Amino acid sequence: MRQRAFALLGSTCLGAMLAMGALPAAAQPALMPLPAAATWNAGELALDGAFAIDSAGCRDPRAGRAAERFQHDAANLTGMALAQRPGPKLSIACRPDPTAESYRLEVTADGVTLEADGPLGVLRGLATLRQLIAVNPPGAALPFVTIDDAPRFVWRGVLIDTARHFMTLETVKRQIDAMERVKLNVLHFHLSDDQGFRVESRRYPRLQASGDGQHYTQAQIRELVAYAADRGVRIVPEFDVPGHTRAIAQVYPDLALAPLKPANAFAAQDRALDPTREETYRFLDGLFAEMGALFPDAYFHAGGDEVSDAVWLDHPRVRAFMTAKGLGSKAALEGYFHTRVAAILSKHGKTMIGWEEVAATGTAPKDVVIQAWQTSNATADSVAKGHRTIVSAGYYLDLLNPAAFHYAFDPLDTAAAGLTPAEAEKGRKLSPIMAAVLTDALVAKPLPPLTPEQENLVLGGEAPLWAEIVTDETIDSRLWPRAAVLAERFWSPRTVRDTDDLYRRLPVVQDQLRVQGLRDQANSARMAARLAPGQSEPVMTLLDLVGPTRNMAHDHRILAALRGQKIVQELNGLADAAPVDSLVAHRFEARAKAFAAGDLSQAAALRADLVAWRANDARFQAVARGRPALEQALPISADIAALAGAALAAMDAVEAGKPLAEADRAQAHTVLARVEAFDAASARPLFSFLGKQPPADLIIKIAPGVRALLAAAP
Ligand code: ACM
Repeated sequence: MRQRAFALLGSTCLGAMLAMGALPAAAQPALMPLPAAATWNAGELALDGAFAIDSAGCRDPRAGRAAERFQHDAANLTGMALAQRPGPKLSIACRPDPTAESYRLEVTADGVTLEADGPLGVLRGLATLRQLIAVNPPGAALPFVTIDDAPRFVWRGVLIDTARHFMTLETVKRQIDAMERVKLNVLHFHLSDDQGFRVESRRYPRLQASGDGQHYTQAQIRELVAYAADRGVRIVPEFDVPGHTRAIAQVYPDLALAPLKPANAFAAQDRALDPTREETYRFLDGLFAEMGALFPDAYFHAGGDEVSDAVWLDHPRVRAFMTAKGLGSKAALEGYFHTRVAAILSKHGKTMIGWEEVAATGTAPKDVVIQAWQTSNATADSVAKGHRTIVSAGYYLDLLNPAAFHYAFDPLDTAAAGLTPAEAEKGRKLSPIMAAVLTDALVAKPLPPLTPEQENLVLGGEAPLWAEIVTDETIDSRLWPRAAVLAERFWSPRTVRDTDDLYRRLPVVQDQLRVQGLRDQANSARMAARLAPGQSEPVMTLLDLVGPTRNMAHDHRILAALRGQKIVQELNGLADAAPVDSLVAHRFEARAKAFAAGDLSQAAALRADLVAWRANDARFQAVARGRPALEQALPISADIAALAGAALAAMDAVEAGKPLAEADRAQAHTVLARVEAFDAASARPLFSFLGKQPPADLIIKIAPGVRALLAAAP
């Protein structure tokens, strides 16, 4: 099901085109995703006025509207009032293929031509053209280039969870805007869970009153679906059943079962729909008919993950039902339930998507699309059973790992993501609860590669952003820029894997997204301003150099649940305001490594940063005094200053050719060891909240650069 990549290109030889001609990689514009093929030519087209757009060659109205948006973005990206002057020609043509996304883009002295196999290809080509705009004051320009491009996978998604924390319509639209700009094409919209049911239902109007009652009206959903479609983004809704249904159970208690004895603290949810009653299936029929009409996409996600044993298996009515139906296991009962749900959806013209547990039953209909999430092994299991499959294992953005971590996983690598057998073994020894929780489904074993037929069943990938610790204020920084990195993983050829080049391009891509409306930095500044009104600068400097603890370490509710407590966690502290993957620290690391390798031209920029970071501690202390949320981070601020001081001393030693004092080196390594231990404490999912965590849940991100400078010092 991967898109026919080069239909447009006729006999062009892919191998020859993959070579990116003329410009060395480091000088190429920051395209993300990288195109399948680009040939850079000498020269550039001045962009000194509004594009003269001719889109008569593409009749689809989306192309014309996309061109208008592009014109508007070009003005923002150049900072010039382009509309007042005539600029270069942009001619757009497309064929009518409704699904094709391939395109050819040419920038020459005569202007820009964009030819696509279908209207969606026009949108993808314009996304590339936005990223080609280079601002070279006092003007702007487009480099001469020929790009032939098509996606590797047809399914390139992100999951937004608006059930755990409600996200406003404006916020969701802003994420869709950014998706269009990096060629992501599926918004998996998680709309119901234990905490709420987020869509107005006219058939079951109590649903939207559950939880805190925040929801989208049907008119808002229609508006959002149209907004996304215009931007080449499909919205696939998820209404998760039979687990994750406390919100439904709250308002329609007869439809659900509760555990007879308390579930363990780790159980993801403690309600599940009652599989024994016909009324349950009548409800799903009515609800999915209504929601299916509201969301026109052919696919409909019905969940199917994490049904609690305690709810179903311990219940006498469920036991009797299983005996009567000859269902010998919980998996068999789940298979029965999902088969009925798939039939309901099919009656309403929908193809069901379900999480990997649906494939694990072994009896789900083959046309159900499966989403692998716990390990990459689940991808292998799903395609071996003949299911088309979407890969999310390895791509959980809510786990707050660096971009490079996710980038390394290929969707077709069946052993890539999951716990190692040794980790699982160690975890099971920790406690009986852990032994119960650590099922084989969490462990990734080495497997043979997929066959070509199995590879063809992989539709693509999706990056989930579960929102237990994500709010309307922080979603921009939790999703971006890492979703752009996964857009590349799902679009670009498998051979595109250079992490250094990724981090070279990422800050530029991120800044372009900000110019076009993304609020990650703006909201972080707002949070810093709230933490230290009138004096947020030292807070902002600190935030540039840190990130939140990873995996589930920053979710304090988990440890509380293990202790039998329930807490409300405010998500407005430094760890929430900090970027996940400090691009400032990555730039520092790249410069430090270049300096360590002998490039002394990096010295001035390195020193300017390090001097400012060392000096920030005194400023931060002055601001933090009397503010508990900041006081917690005093040891972090002090360690940053110590590392910056050590790095400066190391640079002095390198430049003077004199040895670094042994006492200074030892002192620096003590701080580095502490920082790296805190980083390692939340590096793996299983043990993330068990080890000793850093103050204020903040990991210092400049350690690798400092280590490189220390290693270079004689
Ligand atoms: C999931 O993360 N429970 C699909």
